[in-house]
Amino acid sequence: AEHMGDALERVLLTEEEILAGLDRMAREIAADYEGKDVLMVGVLKGAVMVVSDLMRAMPYSVPMDWMAISSYGSGTRSSGVVRILKDLDTDITDRHVLVVEDVIDSGLTLSWILENLELRGAASVEVATLLRKPEAQKVEIDAKYVGFDIPNDFVVGYGLDFDERFRNLRCVGTLAPHMYS
Ligand code: PRP
Ligand code: MN
Ligand code: MG
Repeated sequence: AEHMGDALERVLLTEEEILAGLDRMAREIAADYEGKDVLMVGVLKGAVMVVSDLMRAMPYSVPMDWMAISSYGSGTRSSGVVRILKDLDTDITDRHVLVVEDVIDSGLTLSWILENLELRGAASVEVATLLRKPEAQKVEIDAKYVGFDIPNDFVVGYGLDFDERFRNLRCVGTLAPHMYS
């Protein structure tokens, strides 16, 4: 396997920039939920790094839970066939839920998750995402906490994968063209 850095064309966000963005988000979240007992819900697998660094940037104790849903598959995104592969362990009735994502691309993943969670009678459901691609959005997602708006390019690292690879890059970057062939 080649060195991971050789796979990148361009670094979009360094580790320092990512952590600074998450620190800023954590300050906003901490202020908004002060005294409210918020549950962070990460969406597997991309959000693993974001949840772990975002929750450690919080000044008070925050519980986490996880959901995994089947992905649309690149060719059939519009079919919207989604099912739950791993559901929450937590009953979120009357709970304040913060759904944490690595990226909002088309918005289809989050629109399905939000609809699903809202049916469970949560006290509130909000979204925190490290990255958002405004040009790619097909469904409007009202994300309250956003780290960075980025161009509509394919990016990997810090949880984001290309065919399950490069999630363990510390930065976020675009893949070099030779990686696709
Ligand atoms: C990626 C990413 C988001 C979603 C965003 O997950 O982590 O969850 O796609 O795309 P959307 O806004 O167009 O729905 P993916 O389905 O690749 O699964 P993963 O998190 O396991 O990589
Ligand atoms: Mn994901
Ligand atoms: Mg993926």
